Amino acid sequence: MSQIIPLSKPDLSSLEESLVLEVLRSGRLSIGPMQERFEAQVASAAGCRHGVAVNSGTSGLHLALLALGIGPGDEVITTPFSFIASANCIAYVGARPVFVDICPKSLNMDPGAVEAAITSRTKAILAVETFGNPAHMDTYARIAARHELILVEDCCEALGATLGGRPAGSFGRVGVFGFYPNKQITTGEGGMIVTDDQRLADICRSLRNQGRPLGQAGAAAGSWLEHDRLGFNFRMDELSAAVGVGQMERFGEIVRRRREVAERYMHRLMGVSDLIVPTIEPNVEPSWFIFVVRLSTGYTDVERDRVIASLRRHDVGSAPYFPCIHLQPLYRNMYGYRSGMFPIAEAVSQRTIALPFYGSLSEREIQAVAHTLEVMIAREHLSR
Ligand SMILES: Cc1ncc(COP(=O)(O)O)c(C=O)c1O
Repeated sequence: MSQIIPLSKPDLSSLEESLVLEVLRSGRLSIGPMQERFEAQVASAAGCRHGVAVNSGTSGLHLALLALGIGPGDEVITTPFSFIASANCIAYVGARPVFVDICPKSLNMDPGAVEAAITSRTKAILAVETFGNPAHMDTYARIAARHELILVEDCCEALGATLGGRPAGSFGRVGVFGFYPNKQITTGEGGMIVTDDQRLADICRSLRNQGRPLGQAGAAAGSWLEHDRLGFNFRMDELSAAVGVGQMERFGEIVRRRREVAERYMHRLMGVSDLIVPTIEPNVEPSWFIFVVRLSTGYTDVERDRVIASLRRHDVGSAPYFPCIHLQPLYRNMYGYRSGMFPIAEAVSQRTIALPFYGSLSEREIQAVAHTLEVMIAREHLSR
C-alpha cells in the first residue's frame, strides 16, 4: 500500500505538549504569561521592539491597517499573487487594493510596477514575502520613504527569512506573521503583529481586546468594562501561545530542517525538463514556507491541474498555490478586475505546483514525490 504524503505537517514535540499542560494546570487560559513570552520571542526573531499576539494572521493584518488609520478613500498597493487575506485586509478597512504585477523570479511585486502605481490617494504599500522570500523588501522600503507612504509587511509566510542579514518583519512600519499549521511554526490558529512603534503596538493591543483603554489590556475590574475604541476579540489564548513558545524555542532546528528539505528538492528537481524550481537571489536567505515549482511557459492551467490531480491520485499532496486574487469572483465583482491585467502573475499562477513540504519529509519521500512528478509531466508532454 502506498504511503500518503501530505502537503504539510506541523513540527511538534514533547516540549509543546508540556507547555500546554503547564497552562492547563495553571488555570489561566487567556491573557497570561505565555502570550507575553511568545510575543517577546517573535519580536526578537523579527528584529522588532514589540510583538502583539492575535488569533490569526488575517486579524493581525486587519488590526495593523486600522491602527495605521488606513480607510475609505485610500489606496494600498499590493500583489495579486498571494493568499486572499493579504488583499482582503485592505477591503476590510474600506480602502482600495491596487494590484501590481510581480517579478517572474522572486514572485514578489515588481518594484518598478509599485512605483508606477503610486497616485495622490496611495497611503501604503502592503508587501508580501511570497513563499518566505524577502526579495525587494529593502527596495519597497526605499520607495515608501521617498513617497512618504507606509510600508506594511505581510510576512505571514516568512518568519526567519533575511535579506542582507535583516529579518523579515523589520522592513515595514509594521509586519504581520501567521501561525496556521502549514506555516514554519504554528499555534494552531494565530498571528503576530510586530513593530518598533510603541503607540501602534498599544493601539493594536487595545483593538484586539474589545477596544479596552491603552495600558489596561490585561487589567481587571474597573477598566475591564470600559471601551474607548471599536475593538474586536482577536486575542490569542494561552494554550495557543504555549505551543508558540515551544515552537520558538526549537525555531533554529525547525527552520534548518525545512531548509535541508528544500535543498534536497532543489538538487533533485533542477534539470528536470519542463520544470522551473524556485530562484533564490544573492543576499536572500529564505525561510521556506512551502516548496512551489512550476511548469515551463506554454503549459496551460488545464494541463497543470491534470498534473496536480494525478499527484493526488498517487497519494502525493499537491495544490495550485496561488490562484490570482484579482481573478477571484469577489475581486472581479467588487473592483472590476479582469484577466490580462497582470500577465506575469497570471502566467505564473496558472503553472504552479506546490509539493509536500515539511521538516520531517524523508529522503525516500522526496525521491518518491520527485519521481511521481517527473512521470506526470512526461505524460502531459507526450499527450500534447
Ligand atoms: C501571505 C499571507 N497573508 C495572510 C495570511 C493569513 O493568515 P491566517 O491564515 O493566519 O489568517 C496567510 C496565511 O494563511 C498568508 O499566507
